[in-house]
Amino acid sequence: MTGGGGRDRADSPVMRVTVLGASGRTGIHVVRLLLERGHEVRAGLRSRRRAEEVAGLGAETVVADVTADADDLVEALVGSEVVINAIGAPDPDQASVDLVDRDGVITAIRAAEKAGVARFVQLSAQFADSPDQGDRLVRSILMAKQISDSVLRRSSLNWTIVRPGTLTDDPPTGRVKLGGHLEPGHVSRADVAGVLVAVLDEPLAENQGFDVIGGEIPIPSALAALS
Ligand SMILES: NC(=O)c1ccc[n+]([C@@H]2O[C@H](COP(=O)([O-])OP(=O)(O)OC[C@H]3O[C@@H](n4cnc5c(N)ncnc54)[C@H](OP(=O)(O)O)[C@@H]3O)[C@@H](O)[C@H]2O)c1
Repeated sequence: MTGGGGRDRADSPVMRVTVLGASGRTGIHVVRLLLERGHEVRAGLRSRRRAEEVAGLGAETVVADVTADADDLVEALVGSEVVINAIGAPDPDQASVDLVDRDGVITAIRAAEKAGVARFVQLSAQFADSPDQGDRLVRSILMAKQISDSVLRRSSLNWTIVRPGTLTDDPPTGRVKLGGHLEPGHVSRADVAGVLVAVLDEPLAENQGFDVIGGEIPIPSALAALS
């Protein structure tokens, strides 16, 4: 077993995966887990600033700023079968969130379609599908994600939308609670990364959106219980 990712590496077909936001606190766990499982990983970076750190893990790096030129983004994604999107706006203000989490993610979805990517795994947030019920302090983020999530659901891509509760930097447990809509909760970035990677092995996670919080169920079993 790999830390939090779930199944043995031998079980997974090798996939060519681009991780957007690969330098982020969740994205870097995603890159590590994918590499551990033997996938071919392209680490998408907002800028070259953090390229050495990410390349040191063994991933190819590519500049993939979702607010820059859309054609460059298509080029960055060509050849990938899967995109895992772990980006998040650097500032919580409305303009930044709209630019990155709404418009930037929509640009990434359209670029993935144009690049011939088959599968798009989206790191969203709990209550993104019902922002009125979420914390007022993050409502602008939830509203931005609500729009980009719905564009993804209506795209031509095979999609999965993972909506975690509040993120922590706790170590991975490999165990979570998953469900259509769960009570508010916390979950570590490492376990969220485990879910983002494990969905690639679970057909039931295709064209599905679900919440994830900390829990007791091993990630593969939690995903296998999706209906
Ligand atoms: N915080 C929470 O409790 C919580 C709860 C639920 C969901 N979420 C969501 O989970 C996601 C990941 O959170 P996190 O804490 O791991 O994020 P993070 O550490 O802030 O990382 C964000 C990543 O996005 C990249 N990025 C920012 N703007 C970009 C752009 N224009 N183009 C390409 N990449 C860009 C950053 O690049 P640089 O390294 O260059 O800055 C970084 O790699 C976010 O979408 C967040 O909204 C968070």
